[in-house]
Amino acid sequence: MPAAVTSAEMFADPPDVELFPEEEALVARSVGKRRREFATARACARSALARLGVPPAPILPGERGAPGWPPGIVGSITHCAGYRAAAVAPVHDVRTIGVDAEPHGALPDGVLGAISLPGERDRLAGLASAAPGIHWDRLLFCAKEATYKAWFPLARRWLGFEDADITLSPGDGTFLVNLLVPGPVIDGSPLTGFAGRWMARDGLILTAVTLPA
Ligand SMILES: CC(C)(COP(=O)(O)OP(=O)(O)OC[C@H]1O[C@@H](n2cnc3c(N)ncnc32)[C@H](O)[C@@H]1OP(=O)(O)O)[C@@H](O)C(=O)NCCC(=O)NCCS
Repeated sequence: MPAAVTSAEMFADPPDVELFPEEEALVARSVGKRRREFATARACARSALARLGVPPAPILPGERGAPGWPPGIVGSITHCAGYRAAAVAPVHDVRTIGVDAEPHGALPDGVLGAISLPGERDRLAGLASAAPGIHWDRLLFCAKEATYKAWFPLARRWLGFEDADITLSPGDGTFLVNLLVPGPVIDGSPLTGFAGRWMARDGLILTAVTLPA
């Protein structure tokens, strides 16, 4: 991600994460798994924010679940089994961030057809023969989730899996997102896509999408 982004990740849930009362109220009746992922992701977020000089503050889910960051900050949160992370940046450096983590395994049967375009599926076939160790279907899904998390704070509306055409690059851990629906105007130009990075390691797939200012 651009140098202005700070991030923090954890691979287990510390027992002693302190939540703000507003945060605590949101997960008071949630199952243990949700409480733990919510709390650890907040610990990650506060650690990343501290490195930007931002004091601890509640990070509450806002419109359609998008996290509410302190003024002047953009960011994104992800959690999956064995992994929690947050990435943040000053909005004057980075307009939006989306991060996503997934277990590095094949998508369940039937999911790929629902989350991909025909052209994307054609390219996956080529990627699978070039680099068979990567679950490219899961990586595509992960890239789409990160895309939605970056899109939503800018557009404030839904983006379907069929609304973005993603080209994954096997050699350099990058991908390009081509938006197939009109995007919001950002800094005077319509948003037409994003650049992303991916990594597959230690049983996880991680994707990150940013839009530099
Ligand atoms: C919202 C969504 C992207 C979350 O992804 P996920 O893999 O299920 O879950 P993750 O653990 O990685 O991420 C959860 C975090 O996403 C963030 N999030 C939720 N809704 C969000 C939104 N509308 N915008 C930005 N971030 C959002 C939250 O911070 C949440 O964590 P929190 O509740 O602890 O604050 C997913 O559930 C979803 O709705 N996807 C459908 C839309 C989509 O992906 N379209 C593809 C476009 S190409």
